[in-house]
Amino acid sequence: MEPIFNVRQQSEIYIGPTSDILPGVLPGGRVVVVSDATIDRLYHPMLAPYDTVLIGLGESIKTLQTVESIYRRFIELGVDRSTFVLGIGGGIVTDVAGFAAATYMRGLDFGFVSTTLLGQVDASVGGKNGVNVDGYKNMAGTFSQPRFVICDPGMLRTLSDREFRAGLAEVVKAAIIADADLFARIEATTFDDLRSDTDLLTDAVSASIRVKADIVERDERESGDRRKLNLGHTLAHAIEKCTNRLNHGEAVAVGTALIADASVKLGVLTAEDRDRIAGVLKKLGFDLTPPVDVKRLLKEVGKDKKNEDGMLRIVVPIGIGDCDVRRMSHDEFAALFA
Ligand code: GLY
Repeated sequence: MEPIFNVRQQSEIYIGPTSDILPGVLPGGRVVVVSDATIDRLYHPMLAPYDTVLIGLGESIKTLQTVESIYRRFIELGVDRSTFVLGIGGGIVTDVAGFAAATYMRGLDFGFVSTTLLGQVDASVGGKNGVNVDGYKNMAGTFSQPRFVICDPGMLRTLSDREFRAGLAEVVKAAIIADADLFARIEATTFDDLRSDTDLLTDAVSASIRVKADIVERDERESGDRRKLNLGHTLAHAIEKCTNRLNHGEAVAVGTALIADASVKLGVLTAEDRDRIAGVLKKLGFDLTPPVDVKRLLKEVGKDKKNEDGMLRIVVPIGIGDCDVRRMSHDEFAALFA
């Protein structure tokens, strides 16, 4: 099977059944799998032929301690520079497995089978990996492209509605950033249709990956356009820091709705487009009420260690399928929510 994209001539992205694709893309030598207990339970026969390192579940295990435990297992298993690391799982597994592979013995080749919608349309594609430090998201990591990413729509059937919906937040994000047609297609469909219609879902996954792949092609290391992929994420990360009641996608949905409101205030987005953004998110089942007071979120944004030169880079939608990155002080940002 041919890849649908080849990001930076280094990372082949496939959409289709893993069993058809994986044998053709794995290199000939030794393979070690990094995955988690849920994947092992659901897809054990896929993992069984390989030495496997299982990591824990949930965002709280995205730490350097987990990476160190993978290194230890790699040492026990005699993993060396010629070993290929195959990460099978959602965004947490691929972020951690990619980071462990990219740093163990100064870097092993690796590839992914991405098993969640969020992973397929965002986390596993584009070469970012990493872990959180003291609750600060993705503070340590590398840019290293996986040799391949397999996005298997069939594997999304086992997701809960909540996990599936979380991925849809990143689909909507991609559409707002750069694909007005995709946005219109999502507006014209329903959550249930997306869950049950494989063609519809494959189209949404592939269009979202195209948005991301095009951006990463231009700006792998996030010095310019790649920042656009952080639409809604400044407030989403603050939400995730303040409460664990929302998963990442749910926080992105709230963050996106808030920034759409702010963009109307800034005079760059029409109220009509803002209403379309909120409307599509609500229709997919997101609760857009901030789970904590926006003032508290803004305080958290002020503490964000990733601010550059003391200024924020805020992605503002300027239309459906178009956005802009604005450099602003924390006070200027806060004023948009006053
Ligand atoms: N998730 C944002 C990025 O990969 O740049």
